[in-house]
Amino acid sequence: MDLDFLIEQVKALALESGEFLRRERLSFDRGKVEQKAAHDYVSYVDKTSERRIVTRLQALLPEAGFVTEEGTASLDGQEYCWVVDPLDGTSNYIHDNAPYCISIALRNRAEILLGVVYECCRDELFWAHKDGAAYMNGKEIHVSDQAVLDQAFIELGFPYNAEAYRDFALKLVDSLYGHVGGLRLMGAAAAEICYVAAGRFDARIEGLIGPWDIAAGHIILKQAGGKMTDFSGNPDCLDAREVFASNGKVHEEILKVLQTHKKILKF
Ligand code: IPD
Repeated sequence: MDLDFLIEQVKALALESGEFLRRERLSFDRGKVEQKAAHDYVSYVDKTSERRIVTRLQALLPEAGFVTEEGTASLDGQEYCWVVDPLDGTSNYIHDNAPYCISIALRNRAEILLGVVYECCRDELFWAHKDGAAYMNGKEIHVSDQAVLDQAFIELGFPYNAEAYRDFALKLVDSLYGHVGGLRLMGAAAAEICYVAAGRFDARIEGLIGPWDIAAGHIILKQAGGKMTDFSGNPDCLDAREVFASNGKVHEEILKVLQTHKKILKF
């Protein structure tokens, strides 16, 4: 499989899809937003973006299956599988807030072969494949060197299912707030994992996350020198519901906090 060729095609597709999202945003009709579950929104833009991406990826690699957030195609179980979030950060998009992005990964069973994330608001294209470095707009990226928890700049994700995550989230904030360099909540998981890869954040934590939120970020982070595990430290976390991404240097210390509170997760 020619990963250099494939990633160039996927990069072009992500940029085109980003152009589509930005164009639609100019005339976005908030009245057409639907709710998938409490506070979990979807619009015609997510769905159209996904259909366009799936059609192009089908032509690029006909033997591959799909795992997609909006369910346009769901052929899981194949040797190769595209994992797609056509618009990550939907709530940000609806409210005309940054960031929001497109995330596309190619998976071969337990391994991500390539990943591309295009963050539309800052016009930043992140990518990596398993045999190369990680890049942002053509420049190689690396995780930060921050090893001191007290200085760590940490991004948190709060999933839609508040009932299942609230108790854990409150304990987590209570443990970290005032004991780390800063806490942020941005609202687009795939972009935020790339920000860890690029050294902007030192860590990112979220539970109840979808595979499309993390697949591309997983390989980009790994090739940038970072680490991703579940809240128990298990690196086989592509299908996990809890995902902790870091620069690797603050990982163990934060894991201790996650493990302390993990038992109150309700999923
Ligand atoms: C969501 C965003 C959000 C995260 C949620 C995701 P969506 O994806 O990444 O930051 O907290 O868990 O579901 O719905 O905007 O594609």
